[in-house]
Parts: sequence; C-alpha cells; structure tokens
Amino acid sequence: MTDVFDVERVLAELTLEEKAALTSGSDFWHTDSADRLGVPRVMVTDGPHGLRKQATEADHLGLNDSVPATCFPPAAALGSSWDADLLHRVGAALGRETRANDVAVLLGPGINMKRSPLCGRNFEYLAEDPALAGRLGVALVSGVQSQGVGTSLKHYAANNQEADRMRVSAEVDERTLREIYLPAFERVVKEAQPWTVMCSYNKINGTYASQNHWLLTEVLRDEWGFEGLVVSDWGAVFDRVAALAAGLDLEMPASDGRTDAELVAAVRDGSLDEAVLDVAVRRVLGMIARALPALAEPGTLDHPAHHELAREAAAAGSVLLKNDGLLPLTGDDATRAVVIGEFARTPRYQGAGSSQVNPTRLDDALTALRTATGTELPFAAGFSVAGVPGSQDADDDALLAEAVAAAQDAGTVLLFLGLPAPDESEGYDRTHLGLPANQLAVLRAVAAVNPRVAVVLANGSAVTVEWQDDAVAVLECWLGGQAGGSAAADLLLGVRNPSGRLAETIPHRIEDTPAFGNFPGEGGQVRYGEGILIGYRWYDTRAIDVAYPFGHGLSYTSFGYDGLTAEVSGTGADSAVRVAVTVTNTGDRAGAEVVQVYVGDPEAAVLRPVRELKGFAKVELAPGESRLIEIELDARDLSYWHPVLRRWVVGGGRTVIEVGASSRDIRATAEVTVSGEPIVTPLDTESTFNEWLHHPTGGAVLTGLLPEGMLESEMIAMLADAPLRSLIGFGMVDPGEDGLEGMLARV
Ligand code: BGC
Repeated sequence: MTDVFDVERVLAELTLEEKAALTSGSDFWHTDSADRLGVPRVMVTDGPHGLRKQATEADHLGLNDSVPATCFPPAAALGSSWDADLLHRVGAALGRETRANDVAVLLGPGINMKRSPLCGRNFEYLAEDPALAGRLGVALVSGVQSQGVGTSLKHYAANNQEADRMRVSAEVDERTLREIYLPAFERVVKEAQPWTVMCSYNKINGTYASQNHWLLTEVLRDEWGFEGLVVSDWGAVFDRVAALAAGLDLEMPASDGRTDAELVAAVRDGSLDEAVLDVAVRRVLGMIARALPALAEPGTLDHPAHHELAREAAAAGSVLLKNDGLLPLTGDDATRAVVIGEFARTPRYQGAGSSQVNPTRLDDALTALRTATGTELPFAAGFSVAGVPGSQDADDDALLAEAVAAAQDAGTVLLFLGLPAPDESEGYDRTHLGLPANQLAVLRAVAAVNPRVAVVLANGSAVTVEWQDDAVAVLECWLGGQAGGSAAADLLLGVRNPSGRLAETIPHRIEDTPAFGNFPGEGGQVRYGEGILIGYRWYDTRAIDVAYPFGHGLSYTSFGYDGLTAEVSGTGADSAVRVAVTVTNTGDRAGAEVVQVYVGDPEAAVLRPVRELKGFAKVELAPGESRLIEIELDARDLSYWHPVLRRWVVGGGRTVIEVGASSRDIRATAEVTVSGEPIVTPLDTESTFNEWLHHPTGGAVLTGLLPEGMLESEMIAMLADAPLRSLIGFGMVDPGEDGLEGMLARV
C-alpha cells in the first residue's frame, strides 16, 4: 500500500511542471502521479449505475469491454422508485464494487433535469423535478461515498440534450437555472459533498461550463460550499488556462502534456498566478489522499447479493401505469399465459454510451416467468428488433402471424414492447416518442384475438401510449438493469407489489411537451423558452391533458389519505410549514405508497407553477395499517428566486398545500397564510412610474413632485409602466433642479 502522503508537504515540493501535470489525467482513466513524493496515480471510471472499468483499450463511448460488474437499473428506473433508502443501498453496493476494483471515483450520478423526453441520455437522469432528483442524488452519493470512494456529480450544468452537446449554448435565464436546473446539484453538494463535480461540455449563456467562473466558483464554492474538486467532462476543456482560473481543477482525459505546457507558460509569463494552480493541485492531491485508505483494503464482493439488490431496485422503479384488474396473474392466468415480444427473451436493460456496464449475469423475463410458474409458457418473438443480432433481419409478417396464433389459445398475453437500443443513446437525441410500428402492429393483431393483454415496456424515457386501449394493463419497467427480467416477473405474478411512481410525465404528443419548438435549438444555441415550466409544472400550469401525470403509479392495493394539517411557523425568511397526513392501506395486500406534497403560491408577484413538489415520503403499509406522515417544508420550499434582487425570497400570502398520489391526483388540500418578506427592489434610472410610486421612500419623493390631480387622472394607467425618465423627458413630471439623479439621492 502507498502511505497516505501529507498534501501540504507534497505541494511545497512540487515543481511547476509537476503541478501542471497533476491537474490533468495521465491517460484516459488515471490521474497523474508524483512518484518521487509518494503520490500514486488513481483511477476514475464510469458510470452511474454500475462500474465500467475498462481492462483493454479505453474509450468514453462504451465501445470496448469492461470488467464484469453489477448492472443496477439506470437512473430512469431508480428515479421512479422515489425511494431514498433504496438508493443509498444501491449507492453503497456501487461503492463496494468501485473499491474492490481499485477505482477511486465512480463517475456519476447524473442529475440533470429531463427537459424534453427526446433527450438521448434521459435514461441516465433521475427526474423532471429538482426536489426529487436532489433527494435521490443525495442518497446515491452518500451511499457510494460511505465505502471510502468518491463520486462525480454530473453534468454541471444545463446539459439537457445530446444534440450539439459539446458546443451548444444553453440560453437560460438565472431564475430558471436557480429554480430548475441547479437545485438538485445544490442539494447534493450541500448535503452529501460529492468528492468531485463534473462540468458539462456545453456553454451556459455563451460561456463553456468548463470556463464558467460564475458556475464553478461563485455558485458552486462560494454559495454552496463545495469542498471537492471540479473535473471536466471527457474533452470538455477548450482553454485550459481560462478553465483553471474559472475553477476547473482537473482536466480529463490526458492531453499528452499539451495543455500542461500551456499552464506552465501562463504562470511563467505572469498571466496565471501560480497560487491559483496551487489551489487546484491541493484539491487533486486531497482527492487522491482521501481514496488511498479504502483502496488499500479492497474488501470482498458478494455478487449474488448485489444481483438481488438490483432485482429489488428494478421492481421498485417499475411503474404500473394501468391495470383493469388483470394483474397480478395468479393460478390459471399465470400458467396459461403466453409470452410475446423479443424483449422478453433478449432484454433491453441499459442505455448506450459511457454508462454501459458489462453485467455479472443477465435475467430475462421469459426464463424468470417460466421458472416462477413452473410452466414452459409458450413464447413468440412477435417482431424484429433493430440492434438485436438474429432478430433485426427477421420477417415481421411471419413473426406477427406466429404471435397471433400463440395468443389465440392463451389465457392471457404478456406482451413485451420497447424501444430498440439504437433509438436512445448518449451522443444523439431521439427524433420521436413512438414505439416502432412493427411492435404496435403485433399489439393490435394480438388484442383482436385475445383482449387479455398486459403490455410490459422497456425504454429509457417516456414513450407515447396512444395504443393503450388495446391493453388491459401496462407496466412501465424502464431499463431494468441486469435483474430487470426477474423483477418484471416478480411484479406480473404479484411476488412484489408495484410501488414505482413516474418521475417524468407521459405526454400524449411531442407537440404538447414543454421544450417543443425550443429543443434542441439551432445555430449553436438552445433557448430555454419554457423557463421554469418544465415537466408537470408546464402541463399542470397550462392545463394540458397528459397520458399519465408526474407521480402516477398504481399498486395492487389502495391507499386512503385523512386528516391533512398544515401549520405555519416563523415569518419571512424563517417561515416553515409542518404538513401532516394519515395514510392508510385500504386494500388487502401489503404495499408502498408515495405521499407527495405540492406547494402553490397563487398570488405571487411573479409567474409560479400551479404546483411544485416540495416533499415526499415512501411508506410501506400492511393491509389496514395507517401511518401519520409528517413532512417539514422550510423557507426555501416556500421561496422563489427573485430576478432583480437575485436571491431567494419568501413571497408569502395565501399558500396552497396539496397532498396527493400524483400531480393530478390530489387527495387533500390545505390553505395557509405565510407572512412574506418585505420585498423592496432598489430604484434606479430605469425604474417605472409605478415602481417609484410603490417604493417605501421613493413614493413620497415622487408624489411630492406630481402636478395636482395627476394620480387621479385617467391616463395614469397608461403611464404606470413607463420609466420615470421618459415621463420627465415628455415634461409630464418635473424632477426639480437636480433632476432624476437628485430624486434618487433623496431616496
Ligand atoms: C460522458 C461522461 C462520462 C465520460 C467518461 C463523457 O462522454 O459525457 O458522462 O463520464 O465521457 O466516459
């Protein structure tokens, strides 16, 4: 083992060249070493839902094989579990695998918002809501880091599409960043201190994330108190010297010394202060030193236990969208089922790109169903699937005919549909939301001969469900990881009770989605024109009908909500609301409910979504059992980002607290009055007549100068929104000798 070195002593002895080298990789996956000072290099590897440690040639697109590791469900499924305790356990298992494989940092989780369902990488992201992604992100990061290895929270920030991802500028206003795209990062940084944060490839309002001082230093460190290091996404550094000055500590992968030489030259010619480089070196050394104790004791792995955990997670993240009583299958229904669809035999269980894991084993639903029912259930592939060898060139007409024949005599049809792998991947976006036509043809034909069809879906991001009248049940399994097949069987047969809830809305049409028209942009820019209205904030505020709302998910039991109370304490920036509600399992099976607390601020001075998720709890209940759920909302949960004051403010006033089982299934509502902060926006030469009038001291200064009767005159409504300087210019207001500046001075 390498002894842990003394960071400050090493720093004092490093040459300038060694410092520059330490702040970039030594190859694709390793930091650099300083052997003469006892600093070893350490390895970092992808990815969010499993370890992708490449033994052979390195690449960041998932092209070359990696060592076997447990492939947990990707984030799309983990996010739909709404289960922080589960994610902590998954994180700890990922941490154990990372450590056992001599890897210091696992490059994940990804917590970007699902802005459009078309984003090719949505399967790697947790939710369309920052509160949900933030809570789950904290759990994952602290789980991994409980094992003495680090994480890389990514991709910071506003990386919400794959199209043009290495160059595009996300044009997004500060309020939208603060309320939607940054809070999940903020929460994870503040509550879990990830060892590293990975900056994204894209620009934010014209500046590369890797060179964005506001993002990497002012917000991340000065405001949020981030203590770890900032690493670039692979190849995200455009100008290394500018990046270092902005707050980027480690460039990955290696540039073969090219950018190190640029740093050295910049220090030598005085354009970069060596002290700035020292800060980055200190952080890199700190990260290496921190990893060494755990790497010296790799521990042992229990792969079967991790597989079981992957199975539990896959089941917990699956969402029962619809069930007209067919599921769970029992008795004859189970043993007389036919299994149709290539995905039952050849699972689609993870997405393509840098997160692709080489699983330790792989469960398929067909085998799992046959084993669990003790019956050789008949199978028909039904359709060809692009990207599946042996399937992609098959004759669809013949497969369809075979499926119809099999369905005809069956008691029930379990039809496994999904997106072919080439449809969604890192590196490019989807072009539509539909399932392939050959699959829908099978659904129609099969339903025509046997209406008892349960559809099981495999896809990494929302698909439209215009076909759902042909199915009596729909189970959305997302991408389930290596145990997704057995988890699907567990749910279909009622061995486990579905408890996943949608972390993303399922829209009717792409035209209804928030970023439609603004996604993925053009000419190197993408305008976040929908602003704060993403996901259900958009659909609910604009009252757009959806196929399935955010938070939706059925169970084999039912739940009742009683006795909602909401109690306010404190005022202004110290306001808080304690929400309590009793939830009861009113059915006859054990099951888990996700209690969701939404807040609305109907009288706000700024646009606010009609409701926003601010708290939730997943609770397991035995049949007939009741539990009092208490959720604390703090001042931040009641705030909005003030675009002029550039800080969080509690607007106060009438506040609506809704508790429900989805954003469209509100079971109880309470109204409280929060006493907001006095909000005074400073007056300047651009302030309007109205802003002057309502300003606590400016009002008197202005009214003292107005001609008699002006305030009562009819034209006042026309003038109210004009800058006072214009009214002065028109001669309508006489500011006196010292002009507008004098008025401002008196304020
Ligand atoms: C991806 C990152 C990944 C890195 C290393 C990049 O292309 O955006 O998420 O961690 O490659 O593979």
